[in-house]
Amino acid sequence: MNLTLKIWRQKDANDKGKIVDYPVSGISPDMSFLEMLDVLNQELIEKQEEPIAFDHDCREGICGTCSLYINGRAHGPSTKITACQLHMRSFNDGDTIYIEPWRAKAFPVVKDLIVDRSSFDRVQQAGGFISVNTSGNTQDANAIPIEKDNADRAFDAATCIGCGACVASCKNSSAMLFVSAKVSQFALLPQGQVEATDRVLNMVKQMDEEGFGNCTNTGACEVECPKGISLENIARMNREYLAASFKG
Ligand code: SF4
Ligand code: FES
Repeated sequence: MNLTLKIWRQKDANDKGKIVDYPVSGISPDMSFLEMLDVLNQELIEKQEEPIAFDHDCREGICGTCSLYINGRAHGPSTKITACQLHMRSFNDGDTIYIEPWRAKAFPVVKDLIVDRSSFDRVQQAGGFISVNTSGNTQDANAIPIEKDNADRAFDAATCIGCGACVASCKNSSAMLFVSAKVSQFALLPQGQVEATDRVLNMVKQMDEEGFGNCTNTGACEVECPKGISLENIARMNREYLAASFKG
């Protein structure tokens, strides 16, 4: 396949940035999207040009680092996959492909296609955990009966990989889908009840302080989420928040 790539280049956080054209040829339809970028980078290095900076780690849909906005969609044209799981057979020979970083105030661009998502870490640190006594008398988690439906919903919420596609695809740059998944995975389990009030209040407070926007129920986040995190988590977080506000 021969393609024209239009890639966002930005030297650092202060640079204005611009789209630069890169023709690539000899791309196999069986290559992953990131392998295609590897081919381009190899060519750039051989020409002694600066390679394109992009985030990646696991390359199998687990770590959530491959944050690419491809042809105007978070993680590209396919649904329920990350950019690293996207293959070049999803494109046609001769295509022009636009590749940009996530765009949100709370995700400032570090370089080219890499954004700083430490705002997500700070939201998680504000309450996305449970305190467990690990001094040797920890209760076996399997000894606590949990209703199957709740266990399944908690597990579904826990599949959020923190990629940020929900923020990038939201017209308000809202992080509600991410935060609600992190709140829900504990709210549905007995182990999460001890800190439930503080958790939701602190995580929502941190979310607002980081500069994420409000949710206006558009639903783009759910459509673009590679893990299929449901909007029902946002409804659950709103209920948790209301109840915690009365208590707190
Ligand atoms: S909710 Fe989905 S889109 Fe948002 S961070 Fe989690 S996995 Fe990514
Ligand atoms: S590189 Fe880990 S999810 Fe894409």
